Amino acid sequence: MIKKPLKFMLVSCLFALLFVLAACGNSNTTNETDAKTDNKSAVSATSSDEDIPKKKFKLAHITSTDHMWHKAAEKFNEELKARSDGKMELEIYPASQLGTEADMAQQVEAGSIDFAFITAAFLSTRTPEMAAWFAPYMFENLQEASDASHTDIAREILGEIEGTGLKGLDYLFAGQRTMVLKSKEVKKASDLAGLKMRVTPSPPLQKFYKDAGAAPEGLPLPEVYSALQTGVIDGMDMDLDATITNKYSEVAKYVAVTNHMVWPSIVVANEGMFDGLSENAQKIIIDSLQATIAYAVETRTGQEEEFKKELASQGVTVYELGADVFKEQIEAFDAEYSAKSALIKQFINEFRK
Ligand code: BEZ
Repeated sequence: MIKKPLKFMLVSCLFALLFVLAACGNSNTTNETDAKTDNKSAVSATSSDEDIPKKKFKLAHITSTDHMWHKAAEKFNEELKARSDGKMELEIYPASQLGTEADMAQQVEAGSIDFAFITAAFLSTRTPEMAAWFAPYMFENLQEASDASHTDIAREILGEIEGTGLKGLDYLFAGQRTMVLKSKEVKKASDLAGLKMRVTPSPPLQKFYKDAGAAPEGLPLPEVYSALQTGVIDGMDMDLDATITNKYSEVAKYVAVTNHMVWPSIVVANEGMFDGLSENAQKIIIDSLQATIAYAVETRTGQEEEFKKELASQGVTVYELGADVFKEQIEAFDAEYSAKSALIKQFINEFRK
């Protein structure tokens, strides 16, 4: 027979033991739950969250806020915000606010600008393979040129920028090039003889006009209006969009819709900044750009006829001028530039019909 106090002590010990065991069991469950929670947060951080910086990137370009490239910059911003849950966005500096293309390239290199749209024409002074894009009358229209920009050879040319402090992310096109003339109609190549034609400072453009007998003048975009107004130049190489948005119809009588060259810009980034981003963040930027580029090609293609009509309504004589007029210049370009670089030769062979 167990005495009452002893019985009480035994029962108390049993309860204490049960309590300790239960507590141990509980603590194991809690640790497992903690571990599961930690794991879950680790997975979400690597897939979509903590590796995307909260950042306002600076993007600069040289066209006015009515031009397609500014609309493309705004679209890029929208896409970036939507795809990063508002973490990544752009502060856009249009219309040469941060200087000429040469100034912008330097600032992207130095990291004071994160992104810029810089014409392939300007970049051909630093990356000569870019000249491939300026083989005259190589592409019928913007869509063809844009399709070409997705090919291996075009990507190889884009890759040539690497190592210069800039990273070439993709091609963004404006409309094809036309000739805007102050007071003289150009209907055949020899009509260009002696004309001071403004081009973006770029060797392949200069070659085309020189071969046609013109005197090409390399002038950055912001200087063009007053140069034409004051007669420093007789005409310019330009796209219809920029002709309208920069109001060149106020100082030019004729627009020859030659469509003799396509007009890609390169979306460049500061190399160190871009390479330092997580894969996730880089992918969001690239995907946002691709959506932007598709939007720009589609929108701009649909505006071609409207732009010609708009210029005509402003009193400009608008007329078409085809490749047959510039046969000699096309052959001379292909021969000279194919000999300069194997990549350019391959590009011309692939796309010249
Ligand atoms: C130009 O320099 O002619 C130019 C540059 C960017 C967009 C349009 C035109």
